[in-house]
Amino acid sequence: MEYQAKELFAKHGVATTLGKVVETAEAARAAAEELGGVTVVKAQVKAGGRGKAGGVKLAKTADEAFQYASDILGMEIKGLTVNRVLVTPATPPVEEYYFSFLLDRANRSHLCIASVEGGVEIEEVAKTNPEAVRQIRIDAIEGVTPEKAAAIVDEAKFPAELRDQAIDMVQQLWKVYVEEDATLVEVNPLARLEGDKLEALDGKVSLDENAEFRHEDHAAFEIREEADPLEAKAKDKGLNYVKLDGAVGIIGNGAGLVMSTLDVVAYAGEKHGGVKPANFLDIGGGANAEVMANGLDVILNDDQVKSVFVNVFGGITACDEVANGIKGALEILGDAATKPLVVRLDGNNVEEGRRILDELDHPLVTQVDTMDGAADKAAELANA
Ligand SMILES: Nc1ncnc2c1ncn2[C@@H]1O[C@H](COP(=O)(O)OP(=O)(O)OP(=O)(O)O)[C@@H](O)[C@H]1O
Ligand SMILES: [Mg+2]
Repeated sequence: MEYQAKELFAKHGVATTLGKVVETAEAARAAAEELGGVTVVKAQVKAGGRGKAGGVKLAKTADEAFQYASDILGMEIKGLTVNRVLVTPATPPVEEYYFSFLLDRANRSHLCIASVEGGVEIEEVAKTNPEAVRQIRIDAIEGVTPEKAAAIVDEAKFPAELRDQAIDMVQQLWKVYVEEDATLVEVNPLARLEGDKLEALDGKVSLDENAEFRHEDHAAFEIREEADPLEAKAKDKGLNYVKLDGAVGIIGNGAGLVMSTLDVVAYAGEKHGGVKPANFLDIGGGANAEVMANGLDVILNDDQVKSVFVNVFGGITACDEVANGIKGALEILGDAATKPLVVRLDGNNVEEGRRILDELDHPLVTQVDTMDGAADKAAELANA
């Protein structure tokens, strides 16, 4: 969120104003009183276009801040409910620029996007006047040296009188990007204020979760009540889970297999009322009963799920271990398991795995030998 991005900016010396984050209109009034003067009340949600949606308002008095905060709190912006607002001093921009660093996966490098025509219309500028939005490739090894920062500033055509300031800021933003292990650092607007001062008036940062282990302080940015409850539960249990919005729950071992499973289920679903996969879940190697139970527990708690497809190719983990995992999971879950499971086992020790499930003869479990056949069965059950 903006206020969190600004905390990271401040930590690395990027000029910005922190303001105060509050959750009630009363507290917004108090914050505006304390700040004094004209303030801006800004919806804090993880979405752009807040200004256009009416989530950014200039308040001349503390009473106005109260009024705007009551309007904005509870508002929905792009499907997200506003639970907090940032109250910050109003610093009217003379000009608004756009600046970002992001990971350019396709080109295996980093990318800087900069424009002196920033502000809330940047998407429009990119469409109607793409020349005004400069894209500058950054070598992943060299990074942003002072020379590169100067080249960026010149390429983007920042005004000459702001050149030195802009060069410094570009390097500070690069520090945010690299030292915080970000995949996106965006400032829009990067504002030219009265007196030719550059300041980040808005900010958006995406952090790479794979680097969490070296950033203990990043955990504090996670706002528990705003995370998807199923994703939060999966995270607590160390599962690699992404919630989607279909009806067929998916469990598989190995990210590649799970991705393919999503595809075959979506394809099979076309014949069964258009049902789609409900999630991505990779239980990885060593799928013991506990991991399987945790995975099933998360998926079965998704109200949208009507059937579950367990797709396992035994490699290092043998199919009999997985079959025992499913058996154990069903014991652990007991009455909590209520939805049909379609299981496809193949690979290492498949005969033994299938025998264990045949013997179990559980009313919810159907075994299908092929991946396509199992996807079809799971889609059919979800549509029943
Ligand atoms: N502190 C401030 N003082 C004065 N004006 C401000 C301030 N903060 C924001 N604004 C104005 O409000 C506009 C919208 O605010 P902001 O960019 O923070 O939100 P946004 O609309 O969500 O942005 P985006 O579309 O980039 O996601 C800015 O372009 C700027 O003109
Ligand atoms: Mg903005």
